[in-house]
Amino acid sequence: MPRLLVLYHSQDYGHTGQMAAAVAEGARQAGCEVVLHNTNDARFDVATFADYDAAAFGSPDYFSYIAGGLKTFLDDHYVLDVRRGVSGLTGKPYALFCSHGGGGRVAAIMAGLFRRVGTQVGDTLACRGAPDEAKLEQCRALGLALAGAALG
Ligand SMILES: Cc1cc2nc3c(=O)[nH]c(=O)nc-3n(C[C@H](O)[C@H](O)[C@H](O)COP(=O)(O)O)c2cc1C
Repeated sequence: MPRLLVLYHSQDYGHTGQMAAAVAEGARQAGCEVVLHNTNDARFDVATFADYDAAAFGSPDYFSYIAGGLKTFLDDHYVLDVRRGVSGLTGKPYALFCSHGGGGRVAAIMAGLFRRVGTQVGDTLACRGAPDEAKLEQCRALGLALAGAALG
């Protein structure tokens, strides 16, 4: 069974967390084992990233940038991959989603920053404010598509 990580930051209203849960739901329905991790609760141990076949990353727009917890993941990932030469941290299918209050510039930022992790599946899913049922369905579909890529 493929292992899929949903790594996200959610702090203010829980909007990104609701999207993350829906992405996870879609991936589980497709037969993946899914781990959800909110970087607002704890720093993610990047050494364990090698254990996952695919990942979804979700961030709120904070000052037109990604949240600090997700940026810390990218910093840790770079150090372990490039400086320490740890294998298994790249070449993964990944999906991106974000939540914003009306600016929404973080979507383009994320697309650039996460490129070194592997190959993006689908388009970056952006949501203004609280996700409605239609948006949550899009999140489930994104999880399903990502699971499809992980299943090969
Ligand atoms: C510190 C901070 C900075 C923010 N900066 C922006 C911004 O630059 N552009 C924008 O559209 N929304 C901004 N927002 C709004 C959040 O992106 C939005 O409320 C999001 O849905 C919060 O996600 P969460 O409920 O998962 O924490 C900001 C919110 C906070 C707390």
